[in-house]
Amino acid sequence: MKVMIVGGGGREHAITWAISRSPRVDKIYAAPGNAGIGELAECVDISVMDAEKLVAFAKEKEVDFVVVGPDDPLAAGVADAFLDAGFPTFGPRKNAAIIEASKAFSKELMKKYDIPSAAYEVFDDPEDALEYLKTAKIPIVLKADGLALGKGVLICMTREEAMDGVKTLMVDKQFGSAGDKIVIEEFMTGREVSVLCFSDGKTILPMTSAQDHKRAGDGDTGLNTGGMGTFSPSPFYTEEVDKFCKEHVYQKTIDAMRAEGREFKGVLFCGLMLTPDGPKVLEFNARFGDPEAQVVIPRMKNDMLTVMEACVNGTLDQIDLQFEDNAAVCVMLASDGYPVHYEKGFEIKGLECFATRDGYYAFHSGSKMKDGKVVTNGGRVLGVTALGSTLQEARTNAYAATEWVEFDNKYMRHDIGKAIDEASIGSIRRMRPDPSTKHEVRKCVGPGGARELRSS
Ligand code: AMP
Ligand code: GLY
Repeated sequence: MKVMIVGGGGREHAITWAISRSPRVDKIYAAPGNAGIGELAECVDISVMDAEKLVAFAKEKEVDFVVVGPDDPLAAGVADAFLDAGFPTFGPRKNAAIIEASKAFSKELMKKYDIPSAAYEVFDDPEDALEYLKTAKIPIVLKADGLALGKGVLICMTREEAMDGVKTLMVDKQFGSAGDKIVIEEFMTGREVSVLCFSDGKTILPMTSAQDHKRAGDGDTGLNTGGMGTFSPSPFYTEEVDKFCKEHVYQKTIDAMRAEGREFKGVLFCGLMLTPDGPKVLEFNARFGDPEAQVVIPRMKNDMLTVMEACVNGTLDQIDLQFEDNAAVCVMLASDGYPVHYEKGFEIKGLECFATRDGYYAFHSGSKMKDGKVVTNGGRVLGVTALGSTLQEARTNAYAATEWVEFDNKYMRHDIGKAIDEASIGSIRRMRPDPSTKHEVRKCVGPGGARELRSS
């Protein structure tokens, strides 16, 4: 079979890796792909938003199956363009991708169908929003209605901050038309967990849980980013939470979308907060998370193509979705300065280390080939993922592997998965040194010969 992947980030690299393992796949095309994806697929330089060119390319190559990875093309109807041209396509149509593309839509859906979420109001006039904020309970959360690269959410600890936030989103339009409308939402507290679910429109199968680290700096400081690292599974996603979400969130949401004439086929990403009053939905996304995909996909036992086909064909009820009984941690290697100003074009060295080791992955987020070399080409550069039999082991392995890679201005967080200790070791032992700070010497044998690698 010939498969075409639309996208060029770490999520699409992880998807491409999984699909390349399917014995039925002979050829993969990626638009636009990146240097890592290029090792598994033929990359073609077409924008993810150029539906016409993408479909023409798929026709020319007689592609058998298409996967649309990122949020922007899904929201713009790129999956519709492929489906309407007759290609079996994984990813929701535009009328279903709205569950991510409009926060006001998803809040209204949850209210109408009694899916647990924070109380909220929607405003399209800044004056009304300011009036409401005069008496609203603080802290409070402001969200741009539209897509804003995961950055359109303002957590306001004071009334003044909230008033300023209305100006930022609705008057100054920091996120463009995404801020034409805003959601003002009750502030919730608790652990965050992400659960990505496959859906064929009727059946929904949750994958193993994961947790993202959205802030740029250690200790959850600095600006929000697309995600600086993830771990899976989340020790906080207990059987009890799973039971609650299966009853009150996943199936209800898919059924609600169908009832609204918006059949959802693809991955429904449920961002949850485990509040003192029970799990509540923070957000829905209409695709795999990035970098959640980088820890969830390597743990999946099933053939990815078969599961995706079942989503498209409406036969997901026949799939027995299974994950390895292990753990994964992904540490994002970024360019210093991300998410604001950063330089690109630096050579990435050490990638050969991953080719010779099982359970270690370098999923490329922002890379490209230049003069025969792999160079940095984005704020987020590489998702370094490692498996382990426990979360602690996976984290130690992932941090060791981050040292195999070198490029100028390399930046990462050093506390990805810190919360793991609280869950599994307990509050008293939390005082002890972090197991990942243990020095461990590893050897990586690459073309340049043996190198000693020290994790600290
Ligand atoms: P979202 O894109 O809606 O998931 O929001 C981004 C981040 O903002 C979430 O991962 C949470 O950390 C935080 N957040 C969003 N909504 C709320 C809320 N109602 N209360 C507290 N924190 C929130
Ligand atoms: N990592 C968060 C997202 O993909 O939206």
